[in-house]
Amino acid sequence: MKVDIDLKNIVDNSYSIEIDEISKVHFDTKVAIITNPKVAGLHLGYLLSRISAKELYIITVPDGEEYKNQDSIDNILESLFNHRFNRKSMLIAFGGGVIGDMTGYVSSIYQRGIDFIQIPTTLLSQVDASVGGKTGMNNTYGKNLIGAFHQPKAVYIDPYFLTTLPSREFGAGVAEIVKMAVTFNKDFFEFLEQADLKNPEVLQEAIKQAVQTKADVVAQDEKEHGIRAALNYGHTFGHVIENETKYKRYLHGEAVAIGMVMANNTAVEMNLMEKDEANRIEKLLKKYYLPTTYTIENSASFYETFFLDKKSSDDKITFIIPVGIGGVKITDEVSRVTVMSVLDRFGNI
Ligand SMILES: NC(=O)c1ccc[n+]([C@@H]2O[C@H](COP(=O)([O-])OP(=O)(O)OC[C@H]3O[C@@H](n4cnc5c(N)ncnc54)[C@H](O)[C@@H]3O)[C@@H](O)[C@H]2O)c1
Repeated sequence: MKVDIDLKNIVDNSYSIEIDEISKVHFDTKVAIITNPKVAGLHLGYLLSRISAKELYIITVPDGEEYKNQDSIDNILESLFNHRFNRKSMLIAFGGGVIGDMTGYVSSIYQRGIDFIQIPTTLLSQVDASVGGKTGMNNTYGKNLIGAFHQPKAVYIDPYFLTTLPSREFGAGVAEIVKMAVTFNKDFFEFLEQADLKNPEVLQEAIKQAVQTKADVVAQDEKEHGIRAALNYGHTFGHVIENETKYKRYLHGEAVAIGMVMANNTAVEMNLMEKDEANRIEKLLKKYYLPTTYTIENSASFYETFFLDKKSSDDKITFIIPVGIGGVKITDEVSRVTVMSVLDRFGNI
């Protein structure tokens, strides 16, 4: 005997991403804004002048990637139970990617899932982390190893928040913007070459294009069975750099910038990219003071560390290799010899 359960096409996870000054909005339900003391100190007053709710609570967790863990998740859950949140209640993630990922994760598990809205306040979270429904937290085995795909109901991107962002954090966001352009959109890349992202109007346009690129990719492959993995361009190498430097020397976006240069070198080695195109990408990264080189002490051990990446399987490493500017190849067929020759030369190129 068998009973089939037909679950095709019953969920519509569509939502809008607004890129503008946040409009005034009232929620006729219980709402909790999840944030950290730094973001609250800088911008909670502004947010509260725009957002109201039937009952509104503020829940803060300590600032930092090291707090993106089970303790913080438990504390948020505890507050929600204390305030008797129910399945009609809603969460608002108000902060960078750390707050966004944790709020999304809590909303995916609280009473088997409640709604949440993303209000990202860093450039990286505005162009990348807040869009696409990846949520999660870290544990002792690694970053983002626990989580769920859970789409927000809406994303409000207000570029005003970026006026207080430190310049290194700004650069880290630019790295992710460059990533979207190189992998999927040559026109966008050429726009960025000419653009001055310090100009608010130009920045808003760049945010829009990056978000549009990501939204298109997510719409094709929500759960990363295929093309969405291309957004990990620069990350395979970048994760090893973060691991070797114990997550202290570089911001994530900075490690990704170096990783993109390494991936470009691999592409040139494989005749998939012209040297001139690799140079243009490097020049764009340098324009925003992003690091583009890194001294590899031991190429063999660098290579071994690839296998700790959750995107790699037991004996294969998945590389995202740009094919010119505006195209990309996802492959686990890059030979060790090719990669080692790039690693051996890196830092001396
Ligand atoms: N879900 C996804 O698809 C996705 C994609 C990329 C990255 N991420 C995750 O995002 C996280 C990184 O995000 P991030 O770079 O935003 O880091 P973050 O959230 O740690 O924010 C960086 C710092 O900036 C502060 N900050 C936030 N807004 C500010 C503002 N307006 N002015 C001044 N300071 C401000 C934060 O408090 C923090 O100290 C990582 O945990 C990463 O795993 C998730």
